[in-house]
Formats: sequence, C-alpha cells, structure tokens
Amino acid sequence: MKPIGVFDSGVGGLSILKALRARLPAEDFVYLADAGFAPYGERGDDYVIERTRVVVDRLVREHDVKALVIACNTATAAAVQLMRTQYPGLILVGVEPALKPAIALSRTRRIGVLGTRGTLASAKIRVLHDSLKDQADFVFMPCDGLADAIQNDDTQQITQLCARYMQALGTFGTEEGQIDTLVLGCTHYPFAQHHLAVHAGENVKMIETGEPVARQTHRLLETAGLLNTEGTGSVTLITTGSPQALVAAAHRWLGI
Ligand code: DGL
Repeated sequence: MKPIGVFDSGVGGLSILKALRARLPAEDFVYLADAGFAPYGERGDDYVIERTRVVVDRLVREHDVKALVIACNTATAAAVQLMRTQYPGLILVGVEPALKPAIALSRTRRIGVLGTRGTLASAKIRVLHDSLKDQADFVFMPCDGLADAIQNDDTQQITQLCARYMQALGTFGTEEGQIDTLVLGCTHYPFAQHHLAVHAGENVKMIETGEPVARQTHRLLETAGLLNTEGTGSVTLITTGSPQALVAAAHRWLGI
C-alpha cells in the first residue's frame, strides 16, 4: 500500500504525525520537513504557495503518496485551495486553528489564538472568524519568531518569546473577562506548551489540532477504500534542512 505524506515547514508537523500514528498505526508515513526554507510564517503568501507546490509535487512524484496532510497552518491557509485544484485525485487534509472547538470549551468566552503572522492575516482565518465572532471574543496574537525558535530548539529564545506574547495577550483565568482557552494555531507550538503554561496557569485549556486531523484523515481514507490495516507503521523522514535536527526532534517528541 502507498504511504501517507505529511508536510510542514519544519518539525512542527511532528505534532500532527504523532496523532496520525496513534489513530492509524498500520499506515506508512513519509514526513517532509521543508526546514531549509523555514520559517514560513513571516514570509508572505507567494513564498509559501511556491514552497508548498514544490513539496507537494515531490511527495506525489517521488513517494507516490495516496494522501497528503499539510501539517502546517501557514501553508494550509495560503495554498490548500490551490493544491486541491492542482491535485484533484489526491486526498488532501489541511490544518487550521481550532476556533470552533475552543468555543465549546470556553466558559468565559474569551479565547486567545496564537499563530504565525501569515496564518492570522489570511483570508481563510478571516472567514472563519467572521462566522464565529458573535459566539466568543477571540484575541489574536501573531508570534513572530516562535516557530523558528522551536525549530532551532533555542530554549532561551522560546522562553523569552512565550513570555512576551502571553503577556501581550492579556489576563488568563476563569473569571469573566479573562482568557480561559488558548488555541495553538501553529503546529510547532504544542512543543512549547509547558513554556506557555507557565504564563497561562493550570486552569487554562490549550487546544491543538492533531486529533481532529487524524480523525478526518482516517475518515477520508476509509471512504475511499484506501485504509491500510496490514502495514508496519513505518516513518520515512525527509528534510531540506539538517537531517540531524529532524531525527533528534522525532526521537525527542515521538520516540522514533
Ligand atoms: N508549523 C507551521 C504552522 O503551523 C509554521 C511555522 C513557520 O513559520 O514556518 O503554521
């Protein structure tokens, strides 16, 4: 059976791969980190669309993937529509900040949304926000540099940036007017969760998108009759950047 392709600008998509492997243990995966061209978040749509096009093309041509998960909010926001048009026969799953699930979890109805500048400025998030803004107050915080710091495993920088952006978001807690739910709108950010939690406090819920993306991928494969139930669950790691960094991150976060 053909593998599933998973792609991110770097190590962030490993947070999605983790959920995919848990739900689809017999599937084989090819994970491509475009780390030689990261970060995407502050680079603008043209750049992100071009990189997504190159990477998707590579996964389709060289690895013959049966499905592709764009495990990057920035690339999904900029390029998923275009990719759907260019690869109509391919099962394509994107990720987007979990605004809707956050409403269901929030009591104060004040929700913080962390993401890259590209994601939070995108037309896709604007449409989503417009459809939900009468149900909750969303406070958007573009976190320039944070994905890059996580990518480089730079603890000092991660600590400083988390402090800066969490302070700028406002007050956290369960009282009226306080943010009680935080959407991690970039797939790198789950790997900085404990740094964010220092500022959010223990009562604030954080939402990432791995599990819903894995469920959706499972559903689409099942519908298409493409589920692999007999594979070995192998993971092939590819990067346009440093192989050591990707292998170290996969080992640290996924135990592979
Ligand atoms: N992990 C990516 C996302 O979910 C972006 C990181 C970057 O800026 O390259 O948006």
